[in-house]
Amino acid sequence: MSAKTVTVAIIGAGLMGREIAAAIQRWPALIDHPVRPRLTAVCDINEAALAWFDEIDTVTTKVTDYHELLADPAIDVIYVAVRHDLHERIYSDVIAAGKSLLAEKPFGIDEAAAQAILSAVEAHPESFVRCSSEMPFFPGAQLAIDYVRSGALGIIVEARNSFLHASDVDVTKPIGWKRQNRFCGEAGVLNDLGMHTWHVPLRLGWAPETVYGVLQNIVTERPGPDGVPVPCDTWDNAVLHSWARHDGVRFPLTTETKRIDPGQKNTWEFEAIGLDGGVRFSTKNPRSVEVFAIADIPGGGREQVWQQIDVGSQSVWPTVTGPNFEFGFSDSILQMWAAFLAEREGLLGDRFGCVTPQEAAATHGIYRAAIRSDEQGASAAP
Ligand SMILES: NC(=O)c1ccc[n+]([C@@H]2O[C@H](COP(=O)([O-])OP(=O)(O)OC[C@H]3O[C@@H](n4cnc5c(N)ncnc54)[C@H](O)[C@@H]3O)[C@@H](O)[C@H]2O)c1
Repeated sequence: MSAKTVTVAIIGAGLMGREIAAAIQRWPALIDHPVRPRLTAVCDINEAALAWFDEIDTVTTKVTDYHELLADPAIDVIYVAVRHDLHERIYSDVIAAGKSLLAEKPFGIDEAAAQAILSAVEAHPESFVRCSSEMPFFPGAQLAIDYVRSGALGIIVEARNSFLHASDVDVTKPIGWKRQNRFCGEAGVLNDLGMHTWHVPLRLGWAPETVYGVLQNIVTERPGPDGVPVPCDTWDNAVLHSWARHDGVRFPLTTETKRIDPGQKNTWEFEAIGLDGGVRFSTKNPRSVEVFAIADIPGGGREQVWQQIDVGSQSVWPTVTGPNFEFGFSDSILQMWAAFLAEREGLLGDRFGCVTPQEAAATHGIYRAAIRSDEQGASAAP
């Protein structure tokens, strides 16, 4: 198949801007992908951040004002990875310029911002827009999703999706924009990690009917740039207890987002248990998925059995990597981009896709309900 070249630019050359730039360099690992992305341009207000992109031969444009990228007719797709308070303006401008957008979560700092971005999406159908959430592209997560969809669980008893960090256990860690409401947003850790825990539930049709939020601000001050403590006013941990429905039957759905969970480093976990079957996956053990069934036992009788499947390397788009090898975070980024660019061409088929603008906007309604319920001590409807 001859691949169509799509020109990509990045706005925000920080942690994620570099991660995406590096992932795109591994594109030849994908087998028969209909698109070949060409990263040509990058923008950051901090000129020093642009120097890293000297490593990538195809990047010929480096600017400090993103409007220059919007005016460039040669750019097809823009990935934006900036502070949450900047999402609404920059995403809306990218969409209005007719460029396709892979946005970063939380898709606006709050519900009003997300609705404004959604309005821009609706006004500009020529702009293909999706939101980043890469963890469900782990092969183990894909197996778990397919397992739920197969109906093997029967009546669902309960489900849980978690994203767990210990990035903030150290109370001497300096303050950054992600720890201040005015930049991160009132939803705090939910804005940082929540999209990762709602992508799969929303895709499975598990939009919550009610939410009970248990929110913690554990570390309330951190050292500022001069070492003097400044308020750290964002929620650190948030557990949301929800009621959702599967095949019309209500079940408890729990999502956990934690910056302070000692021992965890970017651990994404999914578990769904039913009367007939169950499935569990954690990126802490990325090779392995556990499935539950009531099975015939050699010698007679039936027993409750948890079995372990090693899943290997293959996700939504096949790669040259041997199927028995391991999969990691940067592979999930590559797979997310493979899904994004294939779907933009209308060629994703029934494979798992990135978060839609409607799903992304819905997460803010869930976070608002969680905050309200935490304030009022009673569950709330999104
Ligand atoms: N998907 C994931 O796993 C994941 C992980 C981390 C962060 N994120 C998200 O990515 C986004 C960025 O986070 P990050 O960790 O990369 O942040 P970062 O602070 O490392 O980088 C942000 C960059 O944006 C630049 N910037 C600020 N204003 C700008 C403007 N007007 N124009 C161009 N550049 C500008 C900054 O100078 C900085 O270099 C956030 O939405 C965050 O929630 C996603």
